[in-house]
Amino acid sequence: MYNEIDITKIDTAQEPPLAEPERQYYFMAKCREWTDAFAKEHGRRPQACVVNMGCQMNARDSEKLTGILEEVGYETVSDEHADFVIYNTCTVRDNANQKVYGRLGFLHSLKKKNPGMRIALCGCMMQEPSVVEKLKKSYRFVNLIFGTHNIYKFAELLFCSLESEEMVIDIWKDTDKIVEDLPAERKYFFKSGVNIMFGCNNFCSYCIVPYVRGRERSRKPQDILREIEKLAADGVVEIMLLGQNVNSYGKNLEMPVTFAELLREAAKIDGIQRIRFMTSHPKDLSDELIQAMKELPKVCHHMHLPLQSGSSRLLKIMNRRYTKEQYLRLVEKLREAIPDISLTTDIIVGFPGETEEDFQETLDVVRKVRYDSAFTFIYSKRTGTPAAAMENQVPEDVVKERFDRLLKEVQAISKETSSRFEGQTVPVLVEQINEQDPDLVTGRLGNNLLVHFPGTEELIGKIVNVTLTESKGFYYLGELEGN
Ligand code: 5AD
Ligand code: SF4
Repeated sequence: MYNEIDITKIDTAQEPPLAEPERQYYFMAKCREWTDAFAKEHGRRPQACVVNMGCQMNARDSEKLTGILEEVGYETVSDEHADFVIYNTCTVRDNANQKVYGRLGFLHSLKKKNPGMRIALCGCMMQEPSVVEKLKKSYRFVNLIFGTHNIYKFAELLFCSLESEEMVIDIWKDTDKIVEDLPAERKYFFKSGVNIMFGCNNFCSYCIVPYVRGRERSRKPQDILREIEKLAADGVVEIMLLGQNVNSYGKNLEMPVTFAELLREAAKIDGIQRIRFMTSHPKDLSDELIQAMKELPKVCHHMHLPLQSGSSRLLKIMNRRYTKEQYLRLVEKLREAIPDISLTTDIIVGFPGETEEDFQETLDVVRKVRYDSAFTFIYSKRTGTPAAAMENQVPEDVVKERFDRLLKEVQAISKETSSRFEGQTVPVLVEQINEQDPDLVTGRLGNNLLVHFPGTEELIGKIVNVTLTESKGFYYLGELEGN
């Protein structure tokens, strides 16, 4: 974690400053006083639990929440029997929402046993007005609700809610603000996500993200590179550049910069050994980026390239702005430039009006591309998106049957393709002791697959060469080179 401002030196008797991030550091100091008083009264520090329910962007936001909670004197724990519990929610599909309501019931039972407990909700789901209405009406035990645009204000909102018995709600409809230099805690000491942009302008017709994350905003390259330099100085060897559509990075900056240019700058930073990025939109994937990936040894040979559907007819209605043929051509180009590249994707089954013919087109792309892995989703109707108003929703049983067929196909292919590195010796970032067998460690290949091999704790955070002795379908068993 890095700190720009020492909160113990802040005079909290003064009025809060108006400028950011100074204002948030002032409220961190106020929260710190609160937790110190708690510790005095209870003989222990208060505990906080941050639960992440969403994508990589949410995971990074959760690290920022954790960083602030630790800075203000909470002990962070993974158990929800804590004094402060915050759910960082997702709303991309409806089952994510249902999970939150279910878990809130459980939290309520915990709060009845510990009335001092405070419950907070944030993230994408809170940007939906109908959700907040429901929470206000039926979940009065929730203490704090805020959204995606004002997460940088967490310290201020936390303080507000610690001082109040009322439900504190602060949701912004949109923002053009990016506040830099707030603390963030990392889950792993050796790797970190780095936001390069927020929001999405694409409005794919099924997707709620542009409504809950707002318009595209890119961070300035200097701010991003400074963050990466600090991470490198702090022992981070692998970074993942994060954005809903990294290929359109920098287009709206005062001094426009392309994603490929950013990648080249990031690759110059000493100490950083691996660079990943997520997510790429096929419509914006440039030759310049393919070239940069090919030339920069630090950039992992992995591309997550969401397909969504293989039917050009549906892609048009989805507002994806590419055809099946263009997508396949892109894959060809990637493979020509980087022959060992691993490709992964997202596919939606059951988009309104999807026919068996459309579905066959999706299967055709899957068979042609032969993805290393694919996330398959059943279409979920999201209120407010154009697709939700389409009349020809596909019956549930038809969708389920197609989904099962797709999954079978995807899994069979992925088992074959992911075993293609068997016998090779490759660099692996060791991430942890194996969860099942303490004599093994688990590491990640450049293509994102895992390998388990004999090793000890000292290897964690290091990049070592591992021979992939046996493919187990979705992971490998291996041996440390030289052993
Ligand atoms: N229904 C199902 N899947 C969806 N996704 C986005 N919106 C929906 C929806 N309404 C999937 C897309 C996207 C991934 C993050 O989630 O495949 O790439
Ligand atoms: Fe959603 Fe499309 Fe934006 Fe991805 S690119 S977040 S699918 S609107």
